[in-house]
Amino acid sequence: MARIPLMAGNWKMNLNHIEAIALVQKLAYTFKADDFAALEIAVIPPFTDIRSVQTLVDGDKIALKYGAQDVAVADKGAFTGEVSALMLAKLGCTFVIVGHSERRANHGEDDQKVNLKVQAALRHGLTPILCVGEGLDTRQAGEQVAHTLAQLDAALAGVASADVANLVIAYEPIWAIGTGEVATPADAQEVCGAIRARIREVHGSAADQVRVLYGGSMKADNVAALMKEQDIDGGLVGGASLDPDEFVSVCRYRLHP
Ligand code: PGA
Repeated sequence: MARIPLMAGNWKMNLNHIEAIALVQKLAYTFKADDFAALEIAVIPPFTDIRSVQTLVDGDKIALKYGAQDVAVADKGAFTGEVSALMLAKLGCTFVIVGHSERRANHGEDDQKVNLKVQAALRHGLTPILCVGEGLDTRQAGEQVAHTLAQLDAALAGVASADVANLVIAYEPIWAIGTGEVATPADAQEVCGAIRARIREVHGSAADQVRVLYGGSMKADNVAALMKEQDIDGGLVGGASLDPDEFVSVCRYRLHP
C-alpha cells in the first residue's frame, strides 16, 4: 500500500496569530493543486494561532492541514495552562505533536506521560505525531536504534494495532534539531527502518501504513536525498517551515533535480 508523504511544519514558539495568517496566506497562494495531490502538507502553529489558521483554511477552502504542538493528558478539569485533545479536535486539528524532545527535556515529559498523551489524542480522533530520537551521547555510543525503539515501545504501550496504522512517528535525532547538523540519509534510514520493523513485529501490517518522518535541520537542499530512503515518508520541519519559500521548496522535493 502506498503511503502518502507528509510534510509538517513545526513552528515551535514562533509567529503570533497575525503573522500566522500572513504565512498561511502566502502558502495558500503558492501551493497548487498538484502539491496537495502529491502529499499531505500541514502547519503546526502555537495554540494561540490555531483559531486564526482554522478560520482561514475553512473560509478559503485550503487543502492545508494543521495541528498543535502538545496536548494535555486529561480531557478537562483543574489543569491550569493545559489544552485538551477535545479542544483541539473542536478547532479542526488533524495532528498533534506528542513527546517532542524539547518537551521531554524542558517539561519533564517521560515515556509514561508521552504514552498517556498519545492515548488522549487518539480518544478524540487526532493523529499523534509521536517524536522519538536519541541525543548525541547515545549516538556516539552507537545505541541510537535501541534507545529510539525503547521510546517507541513505551509510547505505544496499550495502543491498538488499528490506531498504530494511522499514526505518524517522527524520528528526530536531538543532535540534529536546530543545529544545521542533518543526519545523513543512511543514518536516518537506519533508525526509520528499525522503527518500521519493530511496528511490523508488534502490530503486523500496520507497519505498511504507519508514516515515519525524519526531523532535524531538514531543508530544501537536503530533503530530496532523505526522501529517497525507503522508510522515510516525510519530514517534521522546524526552522525551514517559518520561511514560506523554503517550506514550499521542501514540500516540492519531488521536483528537485
Ligand atoms: P529543525 O526542527 O528543523 O529546526 O531542526 C525540527 C523539530 O524540532 O521538529
